[in-house]
Amino acid sequence: MNIEQQTVVIMGGSSGIGLATAKILTQYGANVVITGRNQKKLETALASINGSKSGAVCNATSTDELTNFFTKLGEFHHLILCVSGTEGGGAFVSLEGKQLRQAFEEKFWAHFQAVQASLKTLHKSGSITFVTAASARTSLSGTVGLAAINGALEAMILPLANELRPIRVNAVSPGVIDTGWWKNIPEKERQAIFAQTAATLPVGRIGRPEDIAEAIAFLVGNGFMTGTVIECDGGLRIKE
Ligand SMILES: NC(=O)c1ccc[n+]([C@@H]2O[C@H](COP(=O)([O-])OP(=O)(O)OC[C@H]3O[C@@H](n4cnc5c(N)ncnc54)[C@H](OP(=O)(O)O)[C@@H]3O)[C@@H](O)[C@H]2O)c1
Repeated sequence: MNIEQQTVVIMGGSSGIGLATAKILTQYGANVVITGRNQKKLETALASINGSKSGAVCNATSTDELTNFFTKLGEFHHLILCVSGTEGGGAFVSLEGKQLRQAFEEKFWAHFQAVQASLKTLHKSGSITFVTAASARTSLSGTVGLAAINGALEAMILPLANELRPIRVNAVSPGVIDTGWWKNIPEKERQAIFAQTAATLPVGRIGRPEDIAEAIAFLVGNGFMTGTVIECDGGLRIKE
């Protein structure tokens, strides 16, 4: 992997998949810059990363904060997008438009704006990796809203890889991963969902942040990968 001394920005790198990615990429010699909205969480995350790292508070739903962040940072090589809210799930009949708009704001528009704000300073030899979600291609009940958000992002990958060439554009689409994304669901209920999911998956377990981080690191480091979505979901779409 040829990312030694390259600067990698991980938006939403202060926990879960983003943080696991930062840890892997520093092992390959990259300089990582992680962002999040919460300063304290950011500091705790930075303390857990060995290697060349720095961090900045930047809310990806704010175009002003994004512009300031990228202007201050200067030229960099790779952008990884892990930000997301937790809204957007639930049965279609009771899904509120207001709630889904908020969810689009916190994921689709945050990713969209971050990419636009990054383009002046993103190195032409570099890459953009979106973290989408398996909901974009499954038929699981209660995921219509999430499918719409992540499907919209995944639909952008091919034309964006074409327009931004030679910058490479890819996505990793995770299945169910044990991270803080699930924090709003009470512990008991969450563990029941995890156990039920694990029982139906061919791999017999739910995902760890490191499973997704390895797929992201592969896309960032492999200069021949562009226009792809890697589905890293333990076989979520495989039915008996
Ligand atoms: N976990 C799963 O099962 C799963 C499945 C499919 C897809 N995904 C996707 O994977 C990605 C990473 O999520 P995760 O599971 O690693 O969850 P996570 O642990 O909650 O990580 C989310 C990260 O994004 C940051 N963040 C959220 N909103 C932000 C904003 N507006 N501006 C800047 N930073 C923001 C959070 O820090 P602050 O809170 O401090 O801002 C945190 O660092 C998300 O896009 C999620 O949709 C997750």
